[in-house]
Amino acid sequence: MDFQKPRYIPMSRRRRIYEGKAKVLYEGPEPGTLIQHFKDDATAFNAKKHEVIEGKGVLNNRISEYVFQHLNDIGVPTHFIRRLNMREQLIREVEIIPLEVVVRNVAAGSLATRLGIDEGTQLPRSIIEFYYKNDKLNDPMVSEEHITAFGWASPQEIDDIMALAIRVNDFLSGLFLGVGIRLVDFKMETGRLWENDVMRIVVADEISPDSCRLWDIKTNDKMDKDRFRRDMGGLVEAYTEVAKRLGIVAEGERPQGMGPVLVKG
Ligand code: TMP
Repeated sequence: MDFQKPRYIPMSRRRRIYEGKAKVLYEGPEPGTLIQHFKDDATAFNAKKHEVIEGKGVLNNRISEYVFQHLNDIGVPTHFIRRLNMREQLIREVEIIPLEVVVRNVAAGSLATRLGIDEGTQLPRSIIEFYYKNDKLNDPMVSEEHITAFGWASPQEIDDIMALAIRVNDFLSGLFLGVGIRLVDFKMETGRLWENDVMRIVVADEISPDSCRLWDIKTNDKMDKDRFRRDMGGLVEAYTEVAKRLGIVAEGERPQGMGPVLVKG
């Protein structure tokens, strides 16, 4: 047997590094890599609400692949290397910065509640918020002062994270606008990636309808996880529609690598 070549490791024998609410991370085939596996689990309100929604993981794997590959292509660094199969992708191992970075273009969700602004109100400009990733504390919102005082990220890293967030927001807004979808807000995560002695911040985790608010431009129909959070039903149908419009999943459902579908009028 040739032990030098990377081999396929059966799932049962893979080392599990971390299990989150919607994903599992396994040891990758080479040092510095991991396998990110998308589960069908949907949770909300810090996992107080939980359901298994068949097909969600496959759709998020494909949609997140599409987004991360395009971010890589336009020079926004991410942890993504390539998709491996229907539920898994190969990623670079990074040190996750314990912040959820939320970018908002339109008032919705917790911002609408907290500040008493009607959902759907266009914001005067895009707003970036930080939440401390800590389930025990329910991911509280924090300021740059908290982030630097407690050492979660340095002032330079915060600047880098905000610059990345703005680039991702501009890219995603245009991408979705082109297929008739309004990017209301989204959450992203970042990590530190070391290459030799140089460290840079990259986009990590996933970007999918689980972590974005996506509204149909014409009807304002929700095409994201709010369908689950708000018991609206039709989540898989909505995510499939997002994938179809992006040209990832063709009419007959077999995922294809087509280009985006132009939406007229
Ligand atoms: P929020 O309005 O509930 O604060 O959510 C803002 C955005 O962040 C929205 O697109 C959903 C996403 N999000 C997550 O991805 N994970 C979370 O745990 C939360 C609370 C929000």
